[in-house]
Amino acid sequence: MTVKIMGFAASLRQNSQNGKLFDVAADLLDAMEGVEVDRRSFAEFEMPLYNQDLQEGGFPEGTERMKAAVEAADALILVTPEYNYSIPGNLKNALDWLSRYRPGPLRDKPLLLMSASPSMIGGNRGLWQTRIPLEAMGAVVSPQMFGLSMAHQAFEDDGSLKNAELHEQLDGLLAEFVEFARALTRR
Ligand code: FNR
Repeated sequence: MTVKIMGFAASLRQNSQNGKLFDVAADLLDAMEGVEVDRRSFAEFEMPLYNQDLQEGGFPEGTERMKAAVEAADALILVTPEYNYSIPGNLKNALDWLSRYRPGPLRDKPLLLMSASPSMIGGNRGLWQTRIPLEAMGAVVSPQMFGLSMAHQAFEDDGSLKNAELHEQLDGLLAEFVEFARALTRR
């Protein structure tokens, strides 16, 4: 059966390194049999700062869109920058909004976390921080995470990864994640 994987890069800027990494990952997944990729952009999920007064008037459109996209997917891929060793505020805000739905849309969703950073450790500190709210919301975050270091030098002009070995490693990690998601969702 087909595994539907929804994902996006949690950066709003045009030339985002995380956006490029997401594109490479989505292309690799698209090439796999039995996998369908729903590519989204973080911009379509823009939402105000969380405020319970706003929530009581109804969830914002961006939040509703994100909830619907999450619910329609069997599994998720999130490619996020590291900001100040942690999760970017706009992503945390989006997750805080999502966490107010009952039942929680992230509950039991297999999720792969990745990060691209110009640093030598590839957003690794932020990945660990980002796991916390996701796990609090019941997502089944894969123990495998992918951090792309030196991301400002990692891509060719056509968006592909310069390092062929790394490309292979990413392909293998994504294939493992698909199996992880299949086992959890029985697809
Ligand atoms: C950063 N950046 C950064 N990088 C890193 O490896 N560790 C960090 O703690 C931070 N902190 C940080 C805070 C803020 C507010 C900004 C704007 C940036 C650098 C960051 O990795 C770099 O700007 C990436 O290019 C951001 O990802 P996108 O937008 O290219 O996907």
